[in-house]
Amino acid sequence: MTPLEAELRDRIARDGPVTVTEFMALALYHPEHGYYMTGEPVGKAGAFITAPEISQMFGELLGLWAAAQWRAMGAPEPVSLVELGPGRGTLMADALRAINQAMPGFAQDLSLHLVETSPVLRTQQASALADHAPAWHDSLETLPDGPMLLLANEFLDALPIQQFIRAEGQLAERVVIVDPATDQLAFATGRALPYSAVDPGQDAPMILEANPAANGWVSTVARRLAEQGGAALFIDYGYTAPQTGSTLQAVAAHQKVDPLHQPGEADLTALVNFPEIAHVAGQEGATAHGPRGQGAFLRNLGIEARRDMLLANAGESQAGEIQSACARLIDPDQMGTLFQCLGLTGPGAPLPPGFAPEESPEEI
Ligand SMILES: C[S@@+](CC[C@H](N)C(=O)[O-])C[C@H]1O[C@@H](n2cnc3c(N)ncnc32)[C@H](O)[C@@H]1O
Repeated sequence: MTPLEAELRDRIARDGPVTVTEFMALALYHPEHGYYMTGEPVGKAGAFITAPEISQMFGELLGLWAAAQWRAMGAPEPVSLVELGPGRGTLMADALRAINQAMPGFAQDLSLHLVETSPVLRTQQASALADHAPAWHDSLETLPDGPMLLLANEFLDALPIQQFIRAEGQLAERVVIVDPATDQLAFATGRALPYSAVDPGQDAPMILEANPAANGWVSTVARRLAEQGGAALFIDYGYTAPQTGSTLQAVAAHQKVDPLHQPGEADLTALVNFPEIAHVAGQEGATAHGPRGQGAFLRNLGIEARRDMLLANAGESQAGEIQSACARLIDPDQMGTLFQCLGLTGPGAPLPPGFAPEESPEEI
């Protein structure tokens, strides 16, 4: 039993069931035992591998995306380059290298801001980005005023979701208990929410999810873009049409595991509801572009040309790695359609690269 499971059992015995939101928040962010607070959460040594850890091409193209958008906005300065949840700092290091080569003016004018909760990852980011004097933030509130280019890869999926069970004409929050029959952590239906009568004609039991935390982050970003200009890019695995059922999943040592198994030692995520975050952004006055599948988006940004450049300078064993990394990022049966990209801009801003239907890769 993990130390966090022992703590959870005490708490459930004392105060009753915890909601899925509380369970996910504790499993990820408990100050001592939370998954992001200890160990090495991201990369080959961590539970899972993310796109920037698969290939340098990912961060390079996102850096060029930000630079091209900055130029299309009339090269405003000062300008902030912001990343939400920068992991090991790999994406930003690759992005800045590409920006420096392609658009040194942007590299000189930008100030770098990282929004990160994990002390372990802040240390890794500090060493990956030592030459770029980043400033760290707990939230968006402390960013300097002015236009920003913001990148967020696999950030929203790590935020605690709410789950509800719709059954017997009512809606109840889904909770975690200690099952008296098995003495294991188990999901259960909590008390019905007050005033929650639902249409009895549509009463097949089902799980519904909401993500107020993701909506909150996207609202804040969108409001800022609407007021101060700039663009944001959210990339995550998620869905593009309404969906029901639980999308909560856990990964430990690169394997899917039961979400209630070994809390604090597995990464917990949930799929992002792209239509909803696009809607939330629109309500704040920003314009949403996409969502577009990661494969189509990266192809529009020129990933195949970048792959061929790397191949031209690669030895035989490296060539195989470059080919398979590119395929992993863009193929529809790998990350190409499961991962979606949503662009946000302030009013009147140019269409960001990667979102035009017939865009040719040379445009950025
Ligand atoms: C799944 S990792 C992705 C890391 C990186 N973007 C990548 O692609 O490799 C999620 C990142 O978001 C950070 N994070 C999660 N919740 C956060 C929060 N509420 N505030 C700030 N950072 C958070 C994590 O510590 C981590 O850096």
